Amino acid sequence: GGMALINPSILSADFARLSEEAKAVEGADWLHVDVMDNHFVPNLTLGVPIVESLSRATDTPLDLHLMIEDPDRWAPQYVEAGAGSVTFHAEAAAAPVRLAREIRAKGARASMALKPATPIEPYEDLLPELDMLLIMTVEPGFGGQAFLDIMLPKIRRTRELISRHGLQLWLQVDGGVSASTIERCAEAGADVFVAGSAVYGADDPAKAVRDLREKAEA
Ligand code: DX5
Ligand code: ZN
Repeated sequence: GGMALINPSILSADFARLSEEAKAVEGADWLHVDVMDNHFVPNLTLGVPIVESLSRATDTPLDLHLMIEDPDRWAPQYVEAGAGSVTFHAEAAAAPVRLAREIRAKGARASMALKPATPIEPYEDLLPELDMLLIMTVEPGFGGQAFLDIMLPKIRRTRELISRHGLQLWLQVDGGVSASTIERCAEAGADVFVAGSAVYGADDPAKAVRDLREKAEA
């Protein structure tokens, strides 16, 4: 494929050493931060104060993935906390167009995520409002799950829609992305790759990032 962005997910990092863990993946394009609220998904991670601290602790821009209810209310606070990109879930947003415009107006990239069972087609007309679309390749909530191959046709269809509309938005995949699945994602049209366990589970996380990039760009 062409240029690939590799975004390590700190969900698989040591939460007691977040600033060191951020530095351990220097060379990564963005740091992926999973915000979970125990309602939208059955897991709880972190919120605005930790994002504020993390954004001061690293020069790597933060890619926020909000797996929370009522993103219309909370997403703008993550832009103020220092996020360079904020992803909300289509299934949770009450007014996705208004929300995407608000995120952009506050100065961050606006992005929308789709769970595995959510189709892209109903959202086709919203694509110009977005800087990135995230296609989940596992059910959101936990790291270390197996990649869902059945999402490859959705990645391909989404890339076709983006091209047909002449848009520039990034297409991100998240869940089960590893050295053995990243090439299939890239071939289907993804260009931004989140990897949690494949990076932080490796002996050398910075090398894991380089290896993933090489495979995605091959
Ligand atoms: C899962 C999160 C992912 C998670 C991916 O709900 O959105 O970002 O960290 O972890 P891996 O890469 O281990 O599947
Ligand atoms: Zn994520």
